[in-house]
Amino acid sequence: MESLHRAWTPTSWRSREIAQSPSWPDLEHLERVERELSAKPPLVFAGEARRLQDHLALVSRGEAFLLQAGDCAESFNEGSADAIRDKLKVILQMAVALTYAAGVPVIKVGRIAGQFAKPRSTPFEEQGGIRLDAFRGHIVNDEQFTPEARRPNPERLLAAYHQSVATLNLLRAFTTGGFAALSRVHAWNQEFVANSLEGKRYEVVADEIERALQFMKACGIDLHDDNALQGVDFYTSHEALILPYEQALTRRDSLTGDWYDCSAHMLWIGDRTRQIDGAHVEFLRGVANPIGLKVGPTMGADELVHLQDSLNPENRPGRMTLISRMGRNQVSERLPALIERLRDEGREVVWACDPMHGNTWMASGGQKTRHFDDVLAETAQFFEVHQALGTWPGGIHVELTGDNVTECLGGGSRLAEGDLDFNYTSICDPRLNATQSLDMAFHVAEFLQRYSAASGARSL
Ligand code: PEP
Ligand code: CO
Repeated sequence: MESLHRAWTPTSWRSREIAQSPSWPDLEHLERVERELSAKPPLVFAGEARRLQDHLALVSRGEAFLLQAGDCAESFNEGSADAIRDKLKVILQMAVALTYAAGVPVIKVGRIAGQFAKPRSTPFEEQGGIRLDAFRGHIVNDEQFTPEARRPNPERLLAAYHQSVATLNLLRAFTTGGFAALSRVHAWNQEFVANSLEGKRYEVVADEIERALQFMKACGIDLHDDNALQGVDFYTSHEALILPYEQALTRRDSLTGDWYDCSAHMLWIGDRTRQIDGAHVEFLRGVANPIGLKVGPTMGADELVHLQDSLNPENRPGRMTLISRMGRNQVSERLPALIERLRDEGREVVWACDPMHGNTWMASGGQKTRHFDDVLAETAQFFEVHQALGTWPGGIHVELTGDNVTECLGGGSRLAEGDLDFNYTSICDPRLNATQSLDMAFHVAEFLQRYSAASGARSL
């Protein structure tokens, strides 16, 4: 590939075509902001990104499972401590359900502390004869339909940075400061979840974990001494869409000399920005973070191989996570050829299933929604495909929130179309609420158990 032979620099993406770029009205303003951001401290360290890559390498070998989850789009209006804590609670609950029921270590990665940019299917939105820029996430503009709100404003890059800093600071405190200690497993069950069937099922698991901890304590094992029981490794990720922002936070690691995008541990390339010679692939091929790549139904096997050549020429395990988002009607037909091709070429990848983005539709009331049954059906087929090919279904990638929202139908909360307006707060795609998320985790744990039983010799 041409891109392989060209030198990479943090700015080499600028000579490529940039898909999904906002039309910034004042480029000098943008440059001023980029300079300001370049002087700010990094959000994450290179060593942390390397640790995640090591964990993802375990996933690529079938020895761990990836849980990547969070908002479709974080909001500047929703960065409260409670909202962050509740999102973390539901992710920790899901991880407990998966680890306990399926006996598999779970690598936890949030779509959080930087997930502010959205690709759109059309660059403009028209209402009542007025045409404005589409809403592209709070890092670019605002969702209100006024010319002022929709004008891309570079100051928002700084606001996104500051909210990410605050969010990550709290996440670090929660995950290492006692809140995520396994002895608090009961406290992660929120009241509105605890009354549901899934919440009760979780309580049973939490009781058993508590008993096991008491048993260990009674045996003289000092639980406070064990890092794995006292906190969790929690990583951040977002779509690397707004490249001026990503470049400004890219730093050279003094230890290895490699470049890292220090805006998050893991960055992914969306299904709409994965053009092989495009700016997003060019930028991400040069940073050493673990990289995600969305794989939608239009991805061809040759194209996917070329993308591996460009993004992971040395075939490093843990470097590439392929996030399949085919839709329940296409996954069984399209995914096997892609998996087989990479398997036969000996490519080291993590395969994860995003069962959300290929299953979105408009409800009769005009709300964007997804049905839990479709989400589950795509996930089940993802597992079946891997089972048939002898490859490892490495993880799931879901949009969720810790709140009791009414955005997706069915599942634990048995939501119907008439319920959607009760608490629909997403500024972009519909998310699973906490009960639906826990329901999902218990189902995925069953898929994992079934997979292991059928694979017999596989040792987790
Ligand atoms: C997303 O993850 O929110 C998203 C836009 O996904 P995709 O690129 O797969 O459409
Ligand atoms: Co989304």
